[in-house]
Amino acid sequence: MLTGPWLIYGANGYTGELVARLAKQRGHRPILAGRSAAEVCSVADALALERRLFSLDDPPRVDEGLAGMHLVLHCAGPFSRTSRPMADACLRTATHYLDITGEVAVFEALAARDAEARERGVMLLPGAGFDVVPSDCLAVHLKRRLPGARRLALAYGGLGRLSRGTATTAIEGLGGGALVRRDGVLTPVPLAWHTRAIDFGEGPRRAITVPLGDVTTAWHSTGIPDVELFFAAPPALRLFARASRALGPILGSETVRRFLTARVRAGAPGPTDEERRKGRAFVWGEVEDETGRRARSRLSTAEGYTFTARAALAIVERVLAGQAPTGFQTPAKAYGPDLVLEIEGTARVDEPSGA
Ligand SMILES: NC(=O)c1ccc[n+]([C@@H]2O[C@H](COP(=O)([O-])OP(=O)(O)OC[C@H]3O[C@@H](n4cnc5c(N)ncnc54)[C@H](OP(=O)(O)O)[C@@H]3O)[C@@H](O)[C@H]2O)c1
Repeated sequence: MLTGPWLIYGANGYTGELVARLAKQRGHRPILAGRSAAEVCSVADALALERRLFSLDDPPRVDEGLAGMHLVLHCAGPFSRTSRPMADACLRTATHYLDITGEVAVFEALAARDAEARERGVMLLPGAGFDVVPSDCLAVHLKRRLPGARRLALAYGGLGRLSRGTATTAIEGLGGGALVRRDGVLTPVPLAWHTRAIDFGEGPRRAITVPLGDVTTAWHSTGIPDVELFFAAPPALRLFARASRALGPILGSETVRRFLTARVRAGAPGPTDEERRKGRAFVWGEVEDETGRRARSRLSTAEGYTFTARAALAIVERVLAGQAPTGFQTPAKAYGPDLVLEIEGTARVDEPSGA
């Protein structure tokens, strides 16, 4: 059993608590942390784990909170607000940083600190959850199948019910359009820029262009210059996505965001244990080279939040075992494309290559 001192920040959140529970089951003793004393203590008491209470707006207190820690698994989002102060503290205190973000701006900001992290001997690995472990591993696997690939498309399907934190994070991005990578450069495009039929293994489903973290991570992991992300969306969501092009300024307004966030906060924290047990999630990918040769592969995994807890913990265990390449890392760059196959409940299928 690995016992290095490590900390889960945001341990009272839906996902942070899932990771804490799984970690305890596997014999780990993470320190549970967050800013809300009563909530963090309630989780820590239930799991009989140590706790540390600190908010992220007081840098010396954050440094104190990380004292003696080998790594932090940061589960407090939206990460657009929380990643920077935690990454700053990790770099000051030489603590490895892992998070479960899916936000493009957060991946970009951490990637820009690669040299600083190397200098400090720190690993910065965002996206240790469902977004982006499977898709990043699939991207590198596809590049392995077609080394000359110039174009990469990745798609997410079957995600099921969102947690409050995921929905709140999605609301933050409303009105912002989508992003693709073109010739290695992040390029804004309208939401639902393209629609395509994608077979995740159960027949074709319509999917639309969305902004997801892989526009950064797939580029860093594979060097493929053109990357586009898709999300399988029911007809109403596709219609909403297209309408949002015109409604962008309204959807992005503070009033609308506050209203939607309040609605989300009044709802359930996330999928029930039963929903997570029954749920499945899917990722599909396709690469193409200059001659038109293509390769396609797909993954099916455990439900997204269950997968996130398992994947984040698998990465924590590697870091504790000393496998922590310094600098900005993606899951597949640090641990290879087959990392995903080690996450319980994952299967990968390769379609035959062809034109
Ligand atoms: N990439 C993936 O696959 C994946 C999977 C799951 C979750 N996520 C992301 O992870 C984040 C958390 O999701 P969740 O479902 O666990 O949400 P949640 O249940 O709402 O929990 C959010 C956690 O973040 C903390 N927090 C929020 N803002 C904070 C701030 N400014 N300073 C300190 N702590 C703060 C909250 O603390 P308080 O209780 O004190 O507010 C709570 O502990 C979301 O951004 C979500 O999108 C990503």
